[in-house]
Amino acid sequence: MHTEPQTPSVDSPPPRLGLGVDIGGSGVKGAVVNLETGVLATERIRIDTPQPATPEAVAATVAAIVKEFDWDGPVGITVPAVVKHGVTYSAANIDPTWIGTDARALFTAELDGRKVTVLNDADAAGLAEQKFGSGRDENGLVILLTFGTGIGSALLYNGTLIPNSELGHLEVGGKKAEHRAAASVRERNNLSWTDWAAEVSTVLSTYDALFSPDLFIAGGGVSKKSDKWIPLLTTQTRIIPAQLRNTAGIVGGAVAAYSD
Ligand code: BGC
Repeated sequence: MHTEPQTPSVDSPPPRLGLGVDIGGSGVKGAVVNLETGVLATERIRIDTPQPATPEAVAATVAAIVKEFDWDGPVGITVPAVVKHGVTYSAANIDPTWIGTDARALFTAELDGRKVTVLNDADAAGLAEQKFGSGRDENGLVILLTFGTGIGSALLYNGTLIPNSELGHLEVGGKKAEHRAAASVRERNNLSWTDWAAEVSTVLSTYDALFSPDLFIAGGGVSKKSDKWIPLLTTQTRIIPAQLRNTAGIVGGAVAAYSD
């Protein structure tokens, strides 16, 4: 696990910092991040996601969070949608009005013209895990999956992100992968860990056959309980739990703000 560095000696330069904001279905969360360690440098501030979660309402919430920090630098913002050049193109578990929204322009206007980077939430988690978590020192093709309301995915090849892979929407055995094996499916249907792990194995085997990755990283809230289900998986390829847990989106957002 990561720990804050000890009190720096008088002549060490201050750490590089970034601000990440992670937009989820139930909460919008932000924090300043130490970009050298991936550790949060401030408290995490969370505000309930407004309902309906329209782009305008969410942008106002993001601005309220950013205002809480003494921060005037760039901001990295994650959304659970396909994002190309700042425009959101899908809305699987969010308000449909996000489709076709120029989210970057909207956030930039709400944040008084400062530089904003918008990226997919799972892509942000992938960047964070690759830089600071379970993906450190891993080469080849790494697939990070977030198991939550849906299934998010990040493809990283030798550390480079291939964005918007959306593997949760791949059809597996006549059903979308995320309708089969998201963490929400286990909760909603009261599945045992064994039954849910069987669904996850089916999905992972399909990904395995299509992409032949070197490693899967399992993220999302359910990765906290990885000992209950990862050992039950029958997938050939190595699979390990994510390390950053609920800070991965914020950390990846902050990293991305300085990467484009
Ligand atoms: C969305 C993805 C998102 C994932 C996790 C999926 O339903 O299509 O864009 O990354 O959920 O939030």
